[in-house]
Amino acid sequence: MKIKSADFVMSNSDVAKCPNEPLPEYAFIGRSNVGKSSLINMLTERKSLAKTSGRPGKTQLINHFKINENWFLVDLPGYGYAKVSRRDKNIFQKYITNYFLQREQLVCSFVLIDIRHEPQKIDLDFMQWLGENGIPFAIIFTKADKLKPLAIEKHVENYINELLSGAWEEAPQHFVTSSSKKIGRDELLEYIDGINLQFFEATKK
Ligand code: GTP
Ligand code: MG
Repeated sequence: MKIKSADFVMSNSDVAKCPNEPLPEYAFIGRSNVGKSSLINMLTERKSLAKTSGRPGKTQLINHFKINENWFLVDLPGYGYAKVSRRDKNIFQKYITNYFLQREQLVCSFVLIDIRHEPQKIDLDFMQWLGENGIPFAIIFTKADKLKPLAIEKHVENYINELLSGAWEEAPQHFVTSSSKKIGRDELLEYIDGINLQFFEATKK
């Protein structure tokens, strides 16, 4: 898929105020600093469409970007950011939770995982919660430029085995990416294209 246009549409903290067009959308979620915003920029080949930062906690709202005039990428705040107060955490959780539970246009959530780390409870719990609520997701391993090819393979295998030894009977769809080295771009866009096609086929009927 070619990216012909990528436009920022709006930011907000209320799912009811998100764009109301019936277009498919893809949300990026994961720990703070895992590279959600960077990946949106890499996919769209726009340097600073989504705001990035070396410090965790940069993205604070639900941000909609309209791609090729007919689907959305959604940049979300990260979870697991220790410096946010308990009160802010509760508010964050509520509007993000509402987004996932209420957003009918959400066709796939991408859960981003830093490929260098061992499986973390917060991510495993979040995927479990998505599964329990019937919200489709795929895993995106980020920052693959930080590891050598053999280590990448080993880390992915280890992660998938952890899921299979827990609640998952099948390995979720997963991708290996690097925003700085542009790894995984074609695979992800192809995956999105496939889901978009299904979405528009189903809505035609
Ligand atoms: P929050 O909005 O705070 O939740 O963070 P985020 O997940 O959106 O992360 P962001 O894209 O802002 O990136 C965080 C840091 O990781 C930045 O310093 C990026 O330059 C760096 N980073 C992101 N992707 C990659 C990557 O593929 N490789 C490397 N080496 N660094 C990356
Ligand atoms: Mg961000």
